[in-house]
Amino acid sequence: MTVAIAVPREVATGEKRVAMVPEVAGRLVKSGLEVRVQAGAGEQAFYPDAAYTTAGAKIVADTAALYSGASIVLKVQPPTPEEVGRIDPRSIVVSYMNPTRNLDGIRAMAARPVTGFAMELLPRITRAQSMDALSSQATVAGYRTVLLAAGETPRLFPMLTTAAGTIRPAKVLILGAGVAGLMAIATAKRLGAIVEGYDVRRAAGEQVRSLGAKFLELPINAEGTGGYARELTPEEKAMEKAMVDKAVSEADVVITTANIPGRKAPVLIAKDVVAKMRPGSVIVDMAAESGGNCEATRAGERVIDHGVVVLGPLNLPSALPYHSSEMYAKNLQSFLTLLVGKDGKLTDNFSDEILAGSLMVTGGEVKHAPTKALLAGGKP
Ligand SMILES: NC(=O)c1ccc[n+]([C@@H]2O[C@H](COP(=O)([O-])OP(=O)(O)OC[C@H]3O[C@@H](n4cnc5c(N)ncnc54)[C@H](O)[C@@H]3O)[C@@H](O)[C@H]2O)c1
Repeated sequence: MTVAIAVPREVATGEKRVAMVPEVAGRLVKSGLEVRVQAGAGEQAFYPDAAYTTAGAKIVADTAALYSGASIVLKVQPPTPEEVGRIDPRSIVVSYMNPTRNLDGIRAMAARPVTGFAMELLPRITRAQSMDALSSQATVAGYRTVLLAAGETPRLFPMLTTAAGTIRPAKVLILGAGVAGLMAIATAKRLGAIVEGYDVRRAAGEQVRSLGAKFLELPINAEGTGGYARELTPEEKAMEKAMVDKAVSEADVVITTANIPGRKAPVLIAKDVVAKMRPGSVIVDMAAESGGNCEATRAGERVIDHGVVVLGPLNLPSALPYHSSEMYAKNLQSFLTLLVGKDGKLTDNFSDEILAGSLMVTGGEVKHAPTKALLAGGKP
């Protein structure tokens, strides 16, 4: 039997992305899969229904018909309990799942029961790179932060030598040089700013410098397991703070992207440091969703503090839905090769390292240990 894939319209407020784009749908259809896309699903990302039809996908208006007999559901935002209630029991949902912060949705998936794979939990091994949605979406988000800052600053980014005099370039500081931070550095460089970067992982220094930016260095290394940062000791924190405070107070634009997976984001800019910045300076806090890297940040808001504009944007990839959807759909296409064999058959063996690592829930059982602990009333 042909494996059918259902792609619903996203229901979350402000979500413009779609989990499938016509180009990828066409490739999946050619590989022998049936692709059903809910009418209007791609509209906000500028993929019209007709483009999916041309690619060989089916446009389905009715939700019941969309899900009936579909073995795989592809989504961007975690399925809501209502959505889970409409999905066929025993089907597979591949999506962001917001582990530990989406207990109702995950409980609903266990009860239905459906199998859920969380794109955030994908192990970051070389073989999974083409599926790494965290990276693809962080790339888009990092780019966007710089455009937001450029739109807010009263200054030009590039150095200009004109008949009206010489304009000094803007000084841009990027805190956190992971995927998003590196993209922000590259984008600010392209706009002509003088760029500095900082990360607790010393290994990031080489990448920052290779983009033509200066790396702020502490004489410590805080690389933890899997390439992620570990928590700093109190002495290390004091040293980091002195160095970062000085750099922040001298910058025209600061973009913060520092995160520690599964924890509240580290505070890198205290309120008193914002007060030391020049009026007209801009902070874009990409960690707003996980508590913020700046004390003045309010998630989803534009705050003015001592003349400094502090932005705490949410869901940045959704602001560039055409390309973020394309990249996400390609991540999913790659992930699907682990679920559907070359013979077109769906696997029920999830022992592959990537499948096992991203498996959130199956057969009524929550597999992600921190979420499971929370559901049982404990700590993650
Ligand atoms: N092997 C792979 O396939 C693969 C894929 C993607 C990313 N990675 C690696 O994973 C790592 C994390 O990437 P990410 O973009 O998802 O990170 P992230 O979004 O979890 O965090 C962003 C950055 O913030 C930094 N950070 C944390 N605390 C900080 C602090 N107090 N001060 C300054 N910076 C701080 C982190 O070190 C990280 O570089 C990177 O090394 C990246 O190269 C590997």
